[in-house]
Formats: sequence, C-alpha cells, structure tokens
Amino acid sequence: MIRRIAPVDCDAIAALEARLFATALDQARLMALQANPVFCGFVDLVPEQDQPQSTSADDLASYLGGYLLAMMIDDEAEILSIGVTPDRQRQGVGKLLLQHFFEHGTSQNMTRVVLEVAEDNVPALGLYRDFGFAAFGRRKGYYKQGNQKIDAIMMKWCRAEAFP
Ligand SMILES: CC(C)(COP(=O)(O)OP(=O)(O)OC[C@H]1O[C@@H](n2cnc3c(N)ncnc32)[C@H](O)[C@@H]1OP(=O)(O)O)[C@@H](O)C(=O)NCCC(=O)NCCS
Repeated sequence: MIRRIAPVDCDAIAALEARLFATALDQARLMALQANPVFCGFVDLVPEQDQPQSTSADDLASYLGGYLLAMMIDDEAEILSIGVTPDRQRQGVGKLLLQHFFEHGTSQNMTRVVLEVAEDNVPALGLYRDFGFAAFGRRKGYYKQGNQKIDAIMMKWCRAEAFP
C-alpha cells in the first residue's frame, strides 16, 4: 500500500537511505524537507504479515518497502530520491511509487519533472526510461563512489512526451 510520507516515517527512510546511498539524507534533513510546503513524497508499506516478527533495531524500519521524495513548485517537480528496500527490489515497488507520484502530479497540473541519476545505475535508468524520462545533460564527476567519480545523467519528463 502506498500513502503520503508522514514525519513518523523519517527514521525508517533515513535508515533505508543509508543502506542504499553513499551520500544519504539523514533524519534531520528529512524532517526539514518534510516540513517544506513544496515537498511531496510517498512511502510503500510492507503488508503486516510480510514483516519480520522481531523488534531488533533494523526491523523497526521493516514496515517500509520504499519511498519517493520530490519537490513540486507550480507545474514543475524534481525527484530528489527514490529507494526500494533491497529484498523487495525488482518486484514493481519503484514503478508503483512513480505511478502514485505521476497521479498526484497530474492532479496538480504538473508539466515537467527533472532528476539526476548516476550513469552506471542501470535499474534506475531503466525505471525512468519506462516512464518517458529522457536525458538532457550530464554533470561530470557528480557522485563519489569510494575513490571513483561517476557522472550524473540529468533526465527530464515533459507532459507532451510519453506517459505510460
Ligand atoms: C532503482 C529502484 C528504485 C527501482 O525500484 P524497483 O522496485 O526495484 O523497480 P521495479 O521492480 O518497479 O522495476 C521497474 C523497471 O525498472 C527497471 N529495473 C528495475 N530493476 C532493474 C534491474 N535490476 N536491472 C535492469 N532494469 C531494472 C526495469 O525497466 C523495470 O521494469 P521491468 O521489471 O518491466 O523490466 C531500486 O532498484 C533501488 O532502490 N535502487 C537503489 C537506490 C537507487 O539507485 N535509487 C535511484 C536513485 S536515482
């Protein structure tokens, strides 16, 4: 099930961000983002029967299947982050989160969405292309992975273009 992000989700999102990204948004940053009136975000909730029974620190965030964070100003949006918990990846959660985001955006008359993605992030590039995003630029060495620098591909979606 997908719902809008609430302040109570920030701990779980911060924990998942830290698992997924070398440079992650922390709890304080997420709380600040969440309080911003232009913020728009969704979480995917793992059904109760699929959640682990234990209450270890890791499992406290186990209700979270994934999340999408964005800013929406007038008819333009920027996707800041999207992540799916590793054991639920490639099961359609990312697609569902983007579908909800686009449904909400359509109700807000959204006409343009931009985002950045590492050039070697094959799953994310595939997901964005499926939704009609197209590359329009590149930021050299934008991401750091250990000693390596990876370019960011800048992608955009415009309402007149493809929509699944
Ligand atoms: C990118 C990410 C959000 C995709 O979410 P997901 O739930 O695993 O993706 P879905 O199952 O909804 O797949 C949707 C489409 O994305 C693409 N995709 C997803 N995983 C893929 C993979 N491992 N290899 C190639 N393409 C992939 C495919 O086009 C797929 O459509 P298909 O299943 O019909 O082929 C997820 O892999 C993730 O959290 N990655 C780590 C964090 C990250 O990199 N976020 C993006 C930052 S820009």
